[in-house]
Amino acid sequence: MYTEKVMDHFENPRNVGEIPDADGVGLVGNPTCGDIMKIYLKVDNDVITDIKFKTFGCGAAIATSSMVTEMAKGKTINEALRLSNQAVAEALDGLPPQKMHCSNLAADALHAAIENYRDKQK
Ligand code: FES
Repeated sequence: MYTEKVMDHFENPRNVGEIPDADGVGLVGNPTCGDIMKIYLKVDNDVITDIKFKTFGCGAAIATSSMVTEMAKGKTINEALRLSNQAVAEALDGLPPQKMHCSNLAADALHAAIENYRDKQK
């Protein structure tokens, strides 16, 4: 039911943890399943230089969090904002239809962290 890539990111998640002096933090939750995802960013010169996540959720939520952090690292803020849940799911070679909302959570947490970073710049 899950692709090899999903299983790999679930079993060996990348960029797990927190960044104590993060430049932006995004927290989102899914009201239906109760899963929660938090993403921390370090930004230098408009580029995401470090990113970490903590996810209290299902296997697909952990795999999509891991993948979204890999995809966002090294990208500019604008490039990272364009990362969609669809792109995250595709990078994992797909998710079962009933698990697509898990990738929404990952993209939303990234976007929330970027918004938080932008608010702090004002
Ligand atoms: Fe809720 Fe996966 S079941 S994020």
